[in-house]
Amino acid sequence: MAFKQRVFSGVQPTGNLHLGNYLGAVVKFVALQDLYDCIYCVVDMHAITVWQDPTELPRATREVTAAFLACGIDPKKHIVFNQSQVTGHAELAWVFNCVARLGWLNRMTQFKEKAGKDRENASVGLYAYPSLMAADILLYRATHVPVGEDQKQHLELTRDVAQKFNNDYAASITGHGFGEAFFPLPEPLIQGPATRVMSLRDGTKKMSKSDASDYSRINLTDDADTIAQKIRKAKTDPHPLPADEKELAARPEADNLVGIYAALAGRTRADVLGEFGGAQFSAFKAALVDLSVAKLGPIGAEMKKLVQDPAYIDSVLADGAERARVIADETMNAVKDIVGFIRH
Ligand code: AMP
Ligand code: TRP
Repeated sequence: MAFKQRVFSGVQPTGNLHLGNYLGAVVKFVALQDLYDCIYCVVDMHAITVWQDPTELPRATREVTAAFLACGIDPKKHIVFNQSQVTGHAELAWVFNCVARLGWLNRMTQFKEKAGKDRENASVGLYAYPSLMAADILLYRATHVPVGEDQKQHLELTRDVAQKFNNDYAASITGHGFGEAFFPLPEPLIQGPATRVMSLRDGTKKMSKSDASDYSRINLTDDADTIAQKIRKAKTDPHPLPADEKELAARPEADNLVGIYAALAGRTRADVLGEFGGAQFSAFKAALVDLSVAKLGPIGAEMKKLVQDPAYIDSVLADGAERARVIADETMNAVKDIVGFIRH
C-alpha cells in the first residue's frame, strides 16, 4: 500500500537548543516544508523521562517552539505542537510497549548512556522511551523523519515496531479493510555535513544540552560576542587545515569545525577545504565567527522577541495540537479496531 508522504520529528524541551540541534535537525525541518506536510513536536513527555523542574518545563517548551518559528517553520501551513496535548501519543505508546520486545530495548545505547551506572534508579519511562518515540511517528503514519545521527537506532526500532505490528495483526488489518500493512516503515533522513556536531571542547564528544561546560556548545540564544568567544576558544590542533578531506578523519576538532562551516554555508566539506586548505586556524575561525554570527544572530534575536509573548506561543501550540488530534484520532480509532478494543 502507498502511504501518504508525511514528515514527523520531535525535539525535547530540556535546556538550551544548540548548534547541534539546529544543524542536525531544525535546518532540515525548515527545508522539508517545501516538499512534504510536516509535523514538528516539542516532546515534553519525553523530557520527563529524566527529572524536569515543573516551573521550568513550560519555559523550555515555549523556547523550543520559539526556535522552530524563528528558524522559519510555518505553523499555519504545517503543524507545531507539544506532545502532551495529544493523548494519542501515550495511548499508542502503550500498545507499542506490548509489541516491542525487552531484547530490543535492551540494545538501546541512548538508554545505557543516559541511565549510566545506576541503572536500577533510572525511570521506567527512560527505558520505554523508544516505544513512545515510535508512537510519536506512527500516530501520524509519518514516512520521513529528519533527525541527527544519534537517533538512528531509535528509528530502526520504530521500523521494527511498525513491521511487527503489521505482521502480528495482519489478519485484523486486512479484515478491517486497511489493506496489507497499517503502518509505514518510516525512513530516517540523516544527511549533510553536520549530522553529528561535536563539542567545541572535545571533538570526540557530541555537542549536548547536558554538557557542564557552556563553552562546549553554541546556544541558539547566544549573542554575537558569546558566539565569537566560544569559537575562538574552541579546541583545535596545531596544524594548518588540510586541503584533502580524507585528512580530517584523524583530526576530530578540525573535522567538526569544517563540518559546522560547511553546514552553515550550505556547502560540502571538500568545497570548504578548497577555500581554506593550508590556512591557519586563526584565519578559519575568524571566517567561522562571521558566518555563525550572520546565520545565528537573527535567529537568537527573533527567539528572544517571541518568548516575550507566551500567550502567542501557547496559541500556536493549541492550534497545532487541535489539528494534530484530528490525524491522531483517526489512527487511534483504527488501531483500537485492529487490536480488538471495543469503542463506541
Ligand atoms: P534532542 O535535543 O535530544 O531532543 O535532539 C533534537 C534533535 O537534534 C534530534 O534530531 C537529534 O538527533 C539532534 N541532535 C542533538 N544533538 C545533536 C548533535 N550534537 N549533532 C547533530 N544533531 C543533534
Ligand atoms: N528522541 C529524540 C531526541 O532525543 C526526540 C524525539 C522524540 C523524536 N520523538 C521523536 C525525534 C520522533 C524524531 C521523531 O532527539
